[in-house]
Amino acid sequence: MQEKIEGLLAAAKEEIAALSSSRELAECKVKYLGKTGLVTALLKQMKDIPPEKRSEFGKSVNALKEQVSALFEEREKAIRKEEMEKSFEREAVDVTLDGKAVKFGNLHPLNIVRNLIIDVFVGMGFEIFEGPEIESDYYCFQALNIPKDHPARDMQDTFYVSDNIVLRTHTSPGQVRVMEKKKPPIKVLSPGRVYRADDDASHSPMFHQIEGLVVDKGITLCDLKGLLDEFVQIIFDKDTKTRLRPSYFPFTEPSVEVDVTCSECHGAGCRLCKGTGWIEILGAGVVNKKVLENCGIDSDVYSGLAFGLGIERTTMIKYGIPDIRTLFENNVKFLRQFGRNDR
Ligand code: DAH
Repeated sequence: MQEKIEGLLAAAKEEIAALSSSRELAECKVKYLGKTGLVTALLKQMKDIPPEKRSEFGKSVNALKEQVSALFEEREKAIRKEEMEKSFEREAVDVTLDGKAVKFGNLHPLNIVRNLIIDVFVGMGFEIFEGPEIESDYYCFQALNIPKDHPARDMQDTFYVSDNIVLRTHTSPGQVRVMEKKKPPIKVLSPGRVYRADDDASHSPMFHQIEGLVVDKGITLCDLKGLLDEFVQIIFDKDTKTRLRPSYFPFTEPSVEVDVTCSECHGAGCRLCKGTGWIEILGAGVVNKKVLENCGIDSDVYSGLAFGLGIERTTMIKYGIPDIRTLFENNVKFLRQFGRNDR
């Protein structure tokens, strides 16, 4: 019997030493010490041992059990350590490697410029009003002193939805809608999409405008000039100057076209400004008395100034973009230049 016990111990020693994973170890432990394991089986043989030798046999088997358990415990510790080291190695992070760049989305240049313009005028106390894009002939033209068959209608290539309904060709109908509802003092900015049947490098059938309107007692062209000077210096740069040129719009009297010093050559003359040093940026004027009266505002008491600028045009001047179509192609390479991805 003693030989059998020693043989089992030797076999266990050899087997345990060769174990290389916790899984193998668990299986082997069952083989020796489990309910039907080899060591347990020895104890079950007790009944075949002569009574006088039973005590000695029992002690030997218990000693064997303890030794085998100790061997397992020792090997288990070693295997755990090995496995932990391996997992540290496997999961190690090299903190000296470059991180992966996180890509940010960015606003479209038209939205950047629109937000900038809105911020400037809101800072001056303007409120925002957004009118409908599908507009009646009355608001788009007639109330603005452009009667049916008036030659001024040819200034804008209109998309007609029906005889009396159009896609608005400008944001100026916003003026009328505001003045009908609100009595002076009025200081409103009206941004939005407008539509014209026109399509080339500097025109798009859909584009964006911002309309400005100030109505109060004693408003003059000087107020317009002061307002626009401050505006262009924030949108372009501090040294930008404005110039008012006489023009004609049915809804303003007098009417002006406003030029700014060229953002590229600062007035010296270049390709962008066609050698003149100036670039036209918007139309404006003193609100025609007829328009005030159409909206129920007493033109002997109140006067107003109005201006309308294209967001595309302003964006193209600000960033030196030669073709309006690049603003609508959604070429990601182009758009990313306006974000911080390439930093
Ligand atoms: N509505 C004009 C256009 O789209 C722009 C404009 C000119 C707006 C003069 C105004 C203004 O408010 O006073 O061409």
